[in-house]
Amino acid sequence: MGTSKWLARWMALSALLAMPLWGHAQDVQGRNLAASCAACHGTDGNSAGGMPPLAGQNKGLIVRAMREFRSGSRPATVMHQLAKGYTDAQIETIAGYFAAQGKPSDGGPPYSTY
Ligand code: HEC
Repeated sequence: MGTSKWLARWMALSALLAMPLWGHAQDVQGRNLAASCAACHGTDGNSAGGMPPLAGQNKGLIVRAMREFRSGSRPATVMHQLAKGYTDAQIETIAGYFAAQGKPSDGGPPYSTY
């Protein structure tokens, strides 16, 4: 096998190996960012005590709510302040993480209306 052929194979293989790692890194990043929401919205977005749940909520709706909180167009007590700390990319990552979380078997508390 010539060096360039070997190199091409090696590169294809390392690209394949890197893909799951990339997915994993995204997941960890989402979990880390989402951890700052857990204090109020519950572990993995399964909230208790009247807080709106985020687990299993539609990703697009979470993104929209966060942008509206950030711009001030959506009424809020604390989320205005919090939403200002996140970039669009971080909001996407957080929303994707919560959307992928399962609801508890009893269905959990209802989502508030958007
Ligand atoms: C200090 C408590 C607190 C923290 C921390 C917090 N939230 Fe909230 N969140 C609230 C409250 C309270 C509301 C209801 C709106 C309001 O009064 O601000 C809310 C509402 C929301 C809503 C709208 C849900 C709906 O169904 O109307 C979304 C989406 C949301 N939060 C996302 C997040 C995300 C993402 C994070 C982490 C980056 C986060 N929140 C962190 C308290 C919190």
